[in-house]
Amino acid sequence: MIQSDLDLFGPQPQRLASHTVLLPGFALAELEALLDALRPVLRAAPFRHMRTPGGQQMAVALTNCGALGWVSDDHGYRYSATDPLSGQPWPALPPLLLALAERAATLAGFAGFVPDACLVNHYQPGTRLSLHQDRDEQDYGQPIVSISLGLPAVFLFGGMQRADRTRRIALNHGDVLVWGGEDRLRFHGVLPIKPGVHPRLGERRINLTLRKAG
Ligand code: SIN
Ligand code: FE2
Repeated sequence: MIQSDLDLFGPQPQRLASHTVLLPGFALAELEALLDALRPVLRAAPFRHMRTPGGQQMAVALTNCGALGWVSDDHGYRYSATDPLSGQPWPALPPLLLALAERAATLAGFAGFVPDACLVNHYQPGTRLSLHQDRDEQDYGQPIVSISLGLPAVFLFGGMQRADRTRRIALNHGDVLVWGGEDRLRFHGVLPIKPGVHPRLGERRINLTLRKAG
């Protein structure tokens, strides 16, 4: 019997909710180019632990690239055109990253997505991200495109209320998750990263979320 295309072309997109699609391994083909493109970004705008408006240090370390970057401080959460560490504009969005996000968004049903912000989160074993909504962007009609690299994570995907039941989604190295439309404001978070050493990225998980913020 002839193998089906499904077997020949690897994991297929999975629709997880009406406007949420998981693209398993979608970033793997361009992984090395993506890491090469990220290196200068991280040199210009290193990972740092920001403080929440409540005065606590965030467990996740973060940085940004793109015209706008997500920041948190005593005054609240917002997008800023400059890196508060350097006072300089954030590093530009690498074209390869932009193209990858646009392709993923199109596959997930969001043709025409042009992100202007990429939040880069750095997790170590034990780091978690508590449930939250992404609502600092101007236009909720635009999706979030999330690229996971390094150690695996369990992503919590909830409802529109914090107390709603969450489902657990495994996010592995190279996976891309897109959520928008009716799912755009779902609460989400990440369970503590399990101890481990990823063969390419070591003891870390890096997550990139591309957004249309402004
Ligand atoms: C986020 O919600 O900003 C990041 C999600 C993730 O790390 O998978
Ligand atoms: Fe988020």
